[in-house]
Amino acid sequence: MDQTALDMDVYRNPPDIDRLELEPGHPGLGDDGYIRRRHELFASCRAARVGHQPPPLIDYTDEEERIWRQVTPRLDELHVRHASGVYLRAKRELKISEDRIPQLRHLSGHLQQVSGMHLVPAEGPIPYRTFYSYIAERGFPVTQFIRHGSKPEFTPEPDMIHDCLGHVPPLLNRDYASLLTLIGRAAVTVPTGDKVLALKRLSWFSIEFGLIEQEGETKVFGAGILSSIGEIPNSLFSPDVERRPFRTTEVIETDYDSSRMQDLLFVIPSLGFLRNEVETLVQRFGVPLQGDA
Ligand SMILES: [Fe+2]
Repeated sequence: MDQTALDMDVYRNPPDIDRLELEPGHPGLGDDGYIRRRHELFASCRAARVGHQPPPLIDYTDEEERIWRQVTPRLDELHVRHASGVYLRAKRELKISEDRIPQLRHLSGHLQQVSGMHLVPAEGPIPYRTFYSYIAERGFPVTQFIRHGSKPEFTPEPDMIHDCLGHVPPLLNRDYASLLTLIGRAAVTVPTGDKVLALKRLSWFSIEFGLIEQEGETKVFGAGILSSIGEIPNSLFSPDVERRPFRTTEVIETDYDSSRMQDLLFVIPSLGFLRNEVETLVQRFGVPLQGDA
């Protein structure tokens, strides 16, 4: 469990809270310095988000930089061997460093130029409708705080290692950006209920925890796997994980539990296949494709 990148954002639909809350069992509880820092980052990211500003420039502390340097080289080693080409090419082009925490504002500028996506500063988990409404407008909400140093391989909430090393790189790919914004547009258009649940499951088993076929091999595609030292080998090699071909009709009927290591994953034949599947599904839900070409 310690090495799982848990995901508590859009998939659990947290309330729209206006103050920081660390859940029971969070490794940072009891560390006054950590909590003070989290409050500070919460306030500046929230102010920037509600004020429609780009991610604030953050002066990261030595401890935050240390945690980044401790985790990212190990992840990078795994990425080189197991991540999808879409992810690897984008990560190289974005020049995300193992030595320094990147400024999301700079990454956002780069994305904007290439794929028209931008990053929205997120103070923490945000409700799914708010989350998807940003995505529908080609914005991706990202956190700027980092996990607690006592457990560098674990985070009970999406932090910037999850967001920056999981979600951000593929946003550079135009096809990926296009299918993501289509999911976002559909999620804010369809009525609450079964259709939203179907879109959340589709997103969970692809964007968050998808595997993908690539030249006869299975590679890692989803951000929840890519940002976890434990999930990458687990997803590909564990005998306890069932890997099924990605069939949309089955995926949207399949439940998931975001609070534990995943034991059921779906293998997407290709990015083009996924895009077609998303287009077909959202059209079936009555959402027009216009504007996502
Ligand atoms: Fe995520």
